[in-house]
Amino acid sequence: MARMTLATPRLRTARLRLRPFTDADADLLFALHSNTLVMRYWDSPPWTERARAERFITRCRKMANEGTGARVAIDRASDGTFVGWCSLSKWVPDHRSASLGYCLDEAMWGHGYATEAAHALLRWAFDTLGLNRVQAETDTRNVASARVLKRSDSCGKGLCGNNAS
Ligand SMILES: CC(C)(COP(=O)(O)OP(=O)(O)OC[C@H]1O[C@@H](n2cnc3c(N)ncnc32)[C@H](O)[C@@H]1OP(=O)(O)O)[C@@H](O)C(=O)NCCC(=O)NCCS
Repeated sequence: MARMTLATPRLRTARLRLRPFTDADADLLFALHSNTLVMRYWDSPPWTERARAERFITRCRKMANEGTGARVAIDRASDGTFVGWCSLSKWVPDHRSASLGYCLDEAMWGHGYATEAAHALLRWAFDTLGLNRVQAETDTRNVASARVLKRSDSCGKGLCGNNAS
């Protein structure tokens, strides 16, 4: 059976705006993924070609068209500054499972933005997709990412769960 498309959501939190990527994001995305500090725990090397950013944006649209997930750009609400991105990928409707990922600009770390963005995306996924299981991988040295995941754990127990008020 053909999969349904999955419209990438626009979401708002207290301090952030989550939205679909556009071609205009390519330069900021390339800057983010070519930063060796940002990429130090990533499972692939920093980007060296801007074309990688264009491919990333194309892949975002493909995920939506094929209904396999949602990858959203994150902007700071107060001034529109690009913060990074957050994603739910590998969406499997039969298992109601998906994988969580995120990457934030170095200048934006330590403000709780990753936690806030992940919660918003998970809340959307629990409400819209009936998500049941979320997987994520992180390098064991990536303490900040482990904390984001730990705090996102609460999403499945009420904050973002199906029965959340
Ligand atoms: C991992 C990452 C997304 C965290 O983003 P962030 O917005 O700084 O995270 P938050 O501010 O929501 O902080 C989450 C927790 O980590 C803690 N933390 C943040 N930076 C930390 C650091 N360098 N060392 C230890 N703890 C840290 C925060 O204090 C917070 O803890 P708390 O939940 O106890 O309050 C960000 O560092 C990043 O994008 N890194 C590069 C890409 C990456 O590694 N992505 C994840 C791949 S699995």
